[in-house]
Amino acid sequence: MKRPVLLLALTLLGCQSILTARQMHPLQVKVVPAWVANAFTVAQTQSEAMYNEVMKTGLLPRSIQRGLQPKTDWTAGFFPGTLWYLYTYTGEDTWKTRAEKATALMEGEQNNAFDHDIGFKMYSCFGNGYLLTGNKAYRHIIFRSAKTLTSRYSYKTGLIMSWEPDVKRDWLFPVIIDNMINLELLMEAYKMSGDTTLRHIAVSHADKTMKYHYRKDMSCPHVVDYEPETGAMRKYDWNNGSDDTAHSTWSRGQSWGLYGFTMMYRETGDRKYLQHAEKIADFLLSHPNMPEDMIPYWDYSAPERSKMRDASAAAVMASALMELSTYSARGKKYFEAGEKQLKSLSSPAYLAKPGTHKNFILMHATGNLLRNSELDGALSYADYYYMEGLLRYLRLINGKELYKVI
Ligand code: GLY
Repeated sequence: MKRPVLLLALTLLGCQSILTARQMHPLQVKVVPAWVANAFTVAQTQSEAMYNEVMKTGLLPRSIQRGLQPKTDWTAGFFPGTLWYLYTYTGEDTWKTRAEKATALMEGEQNNAFDHDIGFKMYSCFGNGYLLTGNKAYRHIIFRSAKTLTSRYSYKTGLIMSWEPDVKRDWLFPVIIDNMINLELLMEAYKMSGDTTLRHIAVSHADKTMKYHYRKDMSCPHVVDYEPETGAMRKYDWNNGSDDTAHSTWSRGQSWGLYGFTMMYRETGDRKYLQHAEKIADFLLSHPNMPEDMIPYWDYSAPERSKMRDASAAAVMASALMELSTYSARGKKYFEAGEKQLKSLSSPAYLAKPGTHKNFILMHATGNLLRNSELDGALSYADYYYMEGLLRYLRLINGKELYKVI
């Protein structure tokens, strides 16, 4: 079938986004504000030293507290992803080679169905590598990884199961808000292959999350548990954020949701996802507990318990706001808010001094406060989404599209 005819047929079938693949190119922009240039200089110094550690050990950085981890860790893909972003910024082959070598460490994970984080793990490295280089071997790995993720989908619930059932926690089919990010892997693999099952699963998971994971005020808990046979919602719960499950508003979780629904609008063109993302953004930007520098506390609902910040929540949110600003009638407000977050993160209060901070880029990122884990330190995903947010910012201030649609 000729491409226009095929496109028409697929559009009539409701498959709007098929074959509208994306590409990213090394940046090549004229305007780079001094604070952004400084951030990338710091990031390059830190990441070169980190890369040497990675190549010596075969392990991948997670945080100061947990150090370098095996490729099975949910965070393992972020550092290779950061290397792809440094290649995007510099256009230099040295960074490309480093990104390729670190990405190659992740290859075996394409068949690891242990948890839903295969999306985080594989999209950040192979996904970015594919968008930048078109490497056909990466394409195959992305498709395989997406198929692995679908093994966690249940047609009865219409959801991907994030974690295993847990008797102690009384979890039968736990879904965490973070899971929204993993849908990007499914959508990318769908566009490559035309396999509509992948799209169906992503849309079903997003729709059900939109319906059951959010409270009326647009906050959400970390965990929602479902009845596996009927798909009925059982309860709200927590693992990260506050343990007050009726009110818990874990800051990174709010950012995962904002990012995920913005991405689902990009991938499907369905305006209900855009509206949902706008409502999340409006809720967060007008939250009385949003600090003046816009780097959220660990949980919006409980700053009286701790005023610890989470730079990763700010980095994910800033990157999402950059993208949302390109789709929304309220784009200016979202762009300015994301810009403010990126500027705060790029200030000496959050940006590490070169040669310190165990070679991570951002300070004051918090893993899990109530579990006393990875507190007020570094997180590889804070660094990754910070780089992504800065690249998106540079493209936008230079009048360029975030992605080239081909
Ligand atoms: N996805 C787990 C976390 O954000 O901590």
